[in-house]
Formats: sequence, structure tokens, C-alpha cells
Amino acid sequence: MDQNREKWGSKIGFVLAAAGSAIGLGNIWKFPYIAGENGGASFVLVYLICIAIIGLPVLIAEILIGRTTQRNPVGAFYKLSNSKIWAGVGGLGVVAGFMILSFYAIIAGWSLGYIIEAIVGNFYIWPEPAAAADHFQQLVSNPTWIIGYFLLFMILTVAIVFAGVQKGIERASKIMMPILVILLIVLMIRGLTLPGAEKGLNFLWNPEWDKISTGTILLALGHAFFTLSLGMGAMLTYGSYMSEDDNVPRSALQIVTLDTVIALVAGMAIFTAVFAVGLDPAAGPGLIFHTLPGVFAKMPGGYIFSIIFFILLSIAALTSSISLLEVVVSYFVDEKKWKRHNAAIVLGIVTAIIGLPSVLAFNILSDFKIFGLNFFDLVDFIASNILLPLGGLMISIFVAWIWGFDRVLPKLKLGAEKLFNDYPWVISVWKIFLKYLAPVLIFLVFLQSIGVLEKIVSIFLD
Ligand code: TRP
Repeated sequence: MDQNREKWGSKIGFVLAAAGSAIGLGNIWKFPYIAGENGGASFVLVYLICIAIIGLPVLIAEILIGRTTQRNPVGAFYKLSNSKIWAGVGGLGVVAGFMILSFYAIIAGWSLGYIIEAIVGNFYIWPEPAAAADHFQQLVSNPTWIIGYFLLFMILTVAIVFAGVQKGIERASKIMMPILVILLIVLMIRGLTLPGAEKGLNFLWNPEWDKISTGTILLALGHAFFTLSLGMGAMLTYGSYMSEDDNVPRSALQIVTLDTVIALVAGMAIFTAVFAVGLDPAAGPGLIFHTLPGVFAKMPGGYIFSIIFFILLSIAALTSSISLLEVVVSYFVDEKKWKRHNAAIVLGIVTAIIGLPSVLAFNILSDFKIFGLNFFDLVDFIASNILLPLGGLMISIFVAWIWGFDRVLPKLKLGAEKLFNDYPWVISVWKIFLKYLAPVLIFLVFLQSIGVLEKIVSIFLD
């Protein structure tokens, strides 16, 4: 084992960092709005199943590749397969890291900017969703505003990764994750104590079965991937700083549990408030930036809770963005022998440059479209709809079929001996899910995300 390579200082450090990666805009911005658009509770139920049967098994696989090889995604696949093609799969992960970070940091920047909006009391000036949406539009069409907060967020991300695995990522996660949990609990209690809160809870917990369709299932599965940071080697990279006496399945279960609970609590905090003031839960991507400001403006104590909310959202985004940058940095540190400090700064600057056309897609370049998508949507589409499902598919195929369980299981057993002895069936279930269920279902998600599935289905139906 490489003695000089960095390592986590503690088991809980890894779990908090990985949960920090998982818990992000996906949980607090995206999950509530897609649940809102897709029937609330019915979507939640499907999502929970997807997390359990696909998310958890693939997460274990990704962490295990990292821990076994102690390498970045490219080096890890190469070490286990000796094949340049598989190394290329790791390379796609590194590319996806750049791409996701370049648009993730833009939305995260809005969140930083909205802390200030909340503090100066702007939500009280535009409490109606339509007016709030106009105000939002004005902000993002101002290049100085949007670029400024984008760069500020990138600087924060770079600073943490610059400081290293233990002194940067682990320490930042140990400080920020408890704050995140406390802020979220405060918001949930506020939501639950609002008059009319039960309508929001009903919406989130009472499934309407007829709202479940193939589309919903695949959407839930795709989101399960995104929210657990799977499919591009982020969890692999974090796993590569683990030691062999850590228990991989247990850590993975802890990460999944934290991620899921936070998404559900965020959903409760948001929907109780949205229903309490009588606004639309199915507002789509604008739910957080168009609807919520008005919700805060109308609820008692809304001023302080709006500040808390956007601080929470920014923290969640930051603990995720550092994992995206770390994937890229680890590749250049391991394979190209760069110094971490230089890598963090240079790659941060490169990401900012890649992000620039996406930032400008909201203003100067808004008419510039490729395949009908502006640059921001295009990068999001390629990364989230193509690279992530493809990566997830490759990871499950690789572990189950190429690396092979004969070699995988002894590695998985390290640190998890008790699980192997007491619950051998857990291991058998994991094998079956990873070998058959995950590749098939992820492949369907992939077809659906690139818009092919519907065409195939309609051919068969005609
Ligand atoms: N999981 C994060 C969220 O829910 C986003 C994220 C961070 C991510 N790192 C990732 C997504 C790696 C995919 C791959 O906001």
C-alpha cells in the first residue's frame, strides 16, 4: 500500500465526507421539486425502492473499487483490469466531474447570492411567485451577479480541496455536516408547526398509485444515482482514502440512510411551508428560487428562516462540490504527479472557464442553442443523462462480471467479517442485484434519458 497517499483520519470522517458528497442540491433543490411534479408520495415510494435495490449495491461496489486500488478512477480501473478501455471508463468519470462541477457551482452560486437576498429582505418586496420569478430572472441575467457568485463558490470549493483530504475535506465535512443537520431540523420544526402543515405531509406521504408510470420509475432511478453521487467515481475516489479495516457495506448503509433521511426531511420542511401558504407544490425547478422566497415572506419568522434555508442549501452544495473537484484533482495527483496545491488551483480555474459558457447561457448567450438546448442545459444533459448512467452501468458490470466475485468477495470481507459470518444472505443478495438487476435497470434508465426508450416501446406497441 502506498504509504504517502493521503488517508481519512477516522471512519466517521469518511462517512461524513461521503454523506456530504451525497447530500447536496440533489436533496434540497431537486428531490422536492421532482417529487412535487410527480405525485409526491408515489414518487417517494418508488425512489426509496430504487435507493435500496440499486443505489446501495452500486455504492458498495464503487467504494470497494476505490478502497482496493487506492487510486483515482482512471488508475483504479486500470489497476484491476490492465485494460486501457476500462481506464477510459474511469476517464469518463473525470470528464463528468469537470462538467457536473461547472454547472453545479452555478446553482450553488445562486444559493450564495440568495443568502444576501434574504438578508437584505428582498423576499418581502416580491412575495408572489410570478414577481419572485421575475426578480430571479433579473439577477441571473446580470452577468456580474451570476459570475461573481459562481466564482465565489468555486473559490470556496478550491480552498477546501487545496487543504487536503484530512485537513480540508474531512475537517470541512465534520464542521459543516452537523450544522446542516441542525439547520434542517430547525426548518422542519418550523414547517411542521405552521397551520395547515398536514396538507404538506399528506402530499408527501399518501401515495396515489395511478401516478406511477415507467417514466416515474426511471426518473426515480436516475435521481437515486445523482443523489448518491454515483456513476463517475466520486465515491470511488473517497473510498480510495479508506483503510482495509473499515467496513464498506456498513459505511455505505450509513451514507445511504443519511442521504435519504435528509432528502425526506427537506421535503417535509419545504412542502409543509408551501402548502401552509397555499402555493403550488409542482412548480418545477423554480420551486426553491421562485416559490420559496414568497413562502418565507408570508410565514411568521420567515425572515430568519429564509436566511437559514439558503445557508443550508449553500453548505449542502459545498460538501458536494468538493467531492466533484476531488475526483479531478486525485487523477492529476496520482497519474500526472501534480502537487495537490497546484492541482486544486489549476483545475479550479479550468472548471471556472468550462463553466463560463453555461453562466452566460442565462444572459448574453441565451439564444445560443445546440440541439435546442442552451449550453447549461446541454452540459447538464450530457453529464447527468448520459455519463452518469453509463458510468453506473459500467461500474456494476465491471465489479460483477470483469473483476468477478471470486476476487471481489475477499476484498469486501475485509473489515466486514461479522457481516459475512452472521448474515451471509446479505452478500448473496448484493451479488444478484449487482450482477443482473442493476445493469438491466440502469441500462433502461440510460435509454430513457437519451430519449430512445419511448421510441423502442412504441415500435413494439404499434
Ligand atoms: N449528490 C450530489 C447532490 O445530490 C451531487 C453530486 C456530487 C454528484 N458529486 C456527485 C452527482 C458525483 C453525481 C456524481 O447534490
